[in-house]
Amino acid sequence: MAYVDAGEGPAVLFLHGYPFDKWMWSPQIKAVAENGFRAVAPDLRGFGETVAPTSVGDSSAPSHRLKSVPLSTMDDMASDAAALLDHLNIDQAVVCGLSMGGYVAFEFAHLFPTRVRGLVLAGTRAPADNEQEKAGREQQVQTMLRAGMVPISIATVPKLLAPRTLADKPDVVKCVRKLITGSNPKGAAAAQCGMAGRRDYTEDLPQIKAPALIVVGREDPIRPVADAEFMHERISNSQLEVIDDAAHMTNLEEPEVFNRLLVDFLRLIH
Ligand code: MLT
Repeated sequence: MAYVDAGEGPAVLFLHGYPFDKWMWSPQIKAVAENGFRAVAPDLRGFGETVAPTSVGDSSAPSHRLKSVPLSTMDDMASDAAALLDHLNIDQAVVCGLSMGGYVAFEFAHLFPTRVRGLVLAGTRAPADNEQEKAGREQQVQTMLRAGMVPISIATVPKLLAPRTLADKPDVVKCVRKLITGSNPKGAAAAQCGMAGRRDYTEDLPQIKAPALIVVGREDPIRPVADAEFMHERISNSQLEVIDDAAHMTNLEEPEVFNRLLVDFLRLIH
């Protein structure tokens, strides 16, 4: 498993979204390390430099298996992350996940509750996919396995980024495109199937006792503000922050705002 380990102090485990890798957290890794915390950011299985395992994982969603691609479930990824913390001798961490990383954070909190010092849930949601969403994922899987990640980038970038980011922040647009087109289609397909089969985390929310920071972009069409409010209403010790002029990639679109919220939250709970 490839990862970044930067800084010293209480640990923050960064879980990236789909179809990205650890480098989507670059501004946060720097901010966290500069402010007396330790940033641990893995490439989740099948992404970046972490290859997908060749055996098929145990899944509760056999209909979402692909013959040619091992399935990457959210609990596989959460268990990988826990094994990485073991390897680094870290007992507890603040777990910070964006979108798919948020689903992995929910699984992590469910499987290893005592290891969670706090949760940061950005651009994510608790309910599982409906049938239409599952069908959309299946279609995307067929596209990426046939034609690679460029068509995925073309189709998704306008939804991932707010109009102002698209117009005024060419470096962010370039970075997001590069991350997507650099993804391995097989790894991304395995994760898409894992997300299609993920469970509904709604029942988990009242069980979360760790402090939680919920972040959402005001213009996120993928995981809109209502999804964040839904989590905020059910996680007792949670704080909700809506970031203006940002869509799905809040941490890259408005890194200074995101970093301030993150570092303030880390200081508050440590
Ligand atoms: C992500 O950004 O990780 C994805 O939008 C998550 C999803 O497709 O549900």
